[in-house]
Amino acid sequence: MKIDGQAYRSVWLDADDRWSVHVIDQTKLPWALEILRLTTRDDAAHAIRSMQIRGAPLIGAVAAYGLCLALRADASTDAMERDAALLNATRPTAINLRWALDRMLTRLRNTPAAERVAVAYDEAGLIADEDAAQNETLGRHGLPLIEAAVRPGRAVNVLTHCNAGWLAAVDWGTALSPIYAAFNAGIDVHVWVDETRPRNQGAALTAWELGKHGVPHTVVADNAGGHLMQHDQVDLIIVGADRVTRTGDAANKIGTYLKALAARDNGVPFWVALPSSTIDWTVSDGVAEIPIEERSQAEVTDMTGRLADGTIATMRVVSADSPAANPAFDVTPARLVTGLITERGRCDATADGLLGLFPERR
Ligand code: MRU
Repeated sequence: MKIDGQAYRSVWLDADDRWSVHVIDQTKLPWALEILRLTTRDDAAHAIRSMQIRGAPLIGAVAAYGLCLALRADASTDAMERDAALLNATRPTAINLRWALDRMLTRLRNTPAAERVAVAYDEAGLIADEDAAQNETLGRHGLPLIEAAVRPGRAVNVLTHCNAGWLAAVDWGTALSPIYAAFNAGIDVHVWVDETRPRNQGAALTAWELGKHGVPHTVVADNAGGHLMQHDQVDLIIVGADRVTRTGDAANKIGTYLKALAARDNGVPFWVALPSSTIDWTVSDGVAEIPIEERSQAEVTDMTGRLADGTIATMRVVSADSPAANPAFDVTPARLVTGLITERGRCDATADGLLGLFPERR
């Protein structure tokens, strides 16, 4: 996708040295576009843990490149297994992290140590390229949902939560990919962007990337969605996912479940868009089995923004003696999900629906 006319991905190799890894520091957006250069395993682990990069598919791709950087330092089997485990422990909920590292190890365990670095870069490159291609394709599969919602004289209003755009993936995004496809096809589309407390990925990232692409959008407080649905202001909801069970339960940023409940009460279609790397085929009950990341209280008690003089400032918005809790994800049960949008097409949020698209998993 483009920033001010220049094509970007969210992760790429240095054009000169062809081994160091560049990412956009997402903790600086929307105030500044700062590019980080990752040169070590610890740089990659820190980028994931501190959410300089985030979003399920991008976490997977950066972890894969992180293993490449680790192998440059030590390509022995023991070090490779240790470094993969360290990267795997950086965040718990998005399954793409484990998926990408498992895929890397599967190929690398059968590779002599002397060839591992080259093979690792090849595999990480494939992971990144496939993610971009899959997300572009799932956008085409989601496009008919937006086309079907076109009504004369008004924009199609799509509500989304968190950031499931190209910043969260390698390119295109998941939930935003059908929206970009619709916008590029000339459809009058408008996006309600949930601010997504506590880290404001909607306000800071989704609004920024939609704006850079020219897609009309409006940021709303997280709690506004139900009201908008009651007043016929939302035609459909599309969200991304950090992990989808084989039965169609979907873990996504905290607050997604509440949107699905309001959607059900108001008859608004609720779709989840995901590449197949986000499916955890080993899990059946998302609420019981998906680990939910618990993050720092400070993300709830403090807010960061830009002052009138341009200074970026963080301030506490909760009284000094009140504790806070910060579960970062929730699970929307499959019964509340209208359907799933994947690179193989759309399906019901059920085991049969997913197996229909991915019969090799039977
Ligand atoms: O904590 P984050 O910002 O990594 O959470 C990201 C989300 O919840 C996204 O909606 C999800 O990863 C889908 S991304 C394509």
